[in-house]
Amino acid sequence: MSPTSSSRRELLRYKPFDRMLHWLVAVGFILAGLSGLAFFHPSFFFLTNLFGGGGWTRILHPFVGVVMFAFFLVLVLRFLRDNLPAAADAQWFSQLGAIVGNRERPSADVGKYNGGQKLVFWVMVLSLLALVVTGVVLWRPYFAPQFTVDILRLAVVVHAVSAFVALLAAVVHVYAAIWVKGTVRAMTRGTVSHKWAAHHHPAWYRKVTGSRT
Ligand code: HEM
Repeated sequence: MSPTSSSRRELLRYKPFDRMLHWLVAVGFILAGLSGLAFFHPSFFFLTNLFGGGGWTRILHPFVGVVMFAFFLVLVLRFLRDNLPAAADAQWFSQLGAIVGNRERPSADVGKYNGGQKLVFWVMVLSLLALVVTGVVLWRPYFAPQFTVDILRLAVVVHAVSAFVALLAAVVHVYAAIWVKGTVRAMTRGTVSHKWAAHHHPAWYRKVTGSRT
């Protein structure tokens, strides 16, 4: 099957460009996370060895963060419409207990993304936005000298808290992607099965196939 189209056996979920963006963001997120963690506490300082020592880690961390955010912004703009709130989200959250307990009887008419995916999406948007704004404020020698000590202190705290929230969202995201069987291939091969789509995203399934079920 062509990787850019749907066939009778598989449905196209992500075009190659979107998958490339996603994995660039994921790699950037890991590199920014590891280089940032190196300065969070002395017990993580050994991580600077991955980036060529303390000096290089300090120089690279903000650049890696800004480049990752630029890719993330393009990703967000491409996925924004499918992550806007919808009536099915509240329905999906109301059966969260059954979903987590594997007793799911799908009744929510979920579109391309379910309520949980949308929540993770918006938590990532807000936390990465807070990270990039506070990161620029703290960026020595370029921007930090323009700000007062009080603003710099506040920026350090917000930077650390939003990094923790972003990491938490990423852990939930990866766990859910692996836990819901048949999902990871959406971001590796670009396709999903009809069964997966009809079960987890019935409204999206109807939209892309024209099916009534
Ligand atoms: C490294 C491990 C990662 C894995 C295995 C992974 C896996 C996936 C998979 C399978 C999907 C498709 C889900 C679906 O279509 O239903 C997806 C979507 C997505 N991923 Fe990841 N991902 C990873 C890291 C990240 C990171 C670090 C970010 C952002 C900081 C991210 C942001 C997104 C976004 C925004 C979507 C679109 C879903 C939505 O808009 O709600 N991913 N990911």
